[in-house]
Amino acid sequence: MKNFQVAIDGPAGSGKSTISKLIAKELKFQYLDTGAMYRAITYQALALKINLEDDTAYQFIEKLKLEYKNDKMYLNGKDVSLEIRKPNVTNNVSTVAKNKSVRIKMKDFQQKIASNGQVILDGRDIGSNVLPNANLKVFLTATIECRANRRFLENQAAGIKSSLKELLEEIALRDHTDATRKYAPLKKADDAVTIDTTELSINEVCAEIIKLIHERMF
Ligand code: DC
Repeated sequence: MKNFQVAIDGPAGSGKSTISKLIAKELKFQYLDTGAMYRAITYQALALKINLEDDTAYQFIEKLKLEYKNDKMYLNGKDVSLEIRKPNVTNNVSTVAKNKSVRIKMKDFQQKIASNGQVILDGRDIGSNVLPNANLKVFLTATIECRANRRFLENQAAGIKSSLKELLEEIALRDHTDATRKYAPLKKADDAVTIDTTELSINEVCAEIIKLIHERMF
């Protein structure tokens, strides 16, 4: 099987994981949600009560068993997919993701997974840092109002109460932290294709990306 790497980056709520999962299913690519990995580290760091700002406090990662399979995140064999979406993780993950030692380990791990077969990775620095030679790089954007509203509707569907105002504030803060950090910030790679998803349906975005994959694959 020919190797083929797709990198999907963008800010919170731009549709990256929903769209990446659907494309991976349709094309039978392996999918890796790199945000889920940073969330799993954050979950463990909170459980260990380390100082999240201390770059030297993350040695525990060496002994962690991180696995992403069937759209679920496993930490030492335990499915933590639900726990890593909770507010205490969401509100701290950008702080954890700023640490250089964490980013180096995650990059290494992600590159190993992506080195074989046909893969789609989504995150913040995939096209600009983790997979600089990806066959296709996409940068998804949407207005912050649209992104907050998507989260609000997702929460509603999952029976989680949330406030649109608080979601807007949380996303704005996370965007700022992710885009201004020193190491591998959220950034569009120079050769990435930008798709503004504000006015597009999920199916329209998927179709556009699948078209780009086919153009570059065959
Ligand atoms: O995609 P997400 O919202 O689940 O990502 C959670 C956080 O993880 C995000 O705010 C920043 C960090 N992250 C990162 O720094 N680099 C990545 N490649 C993916 C996520």
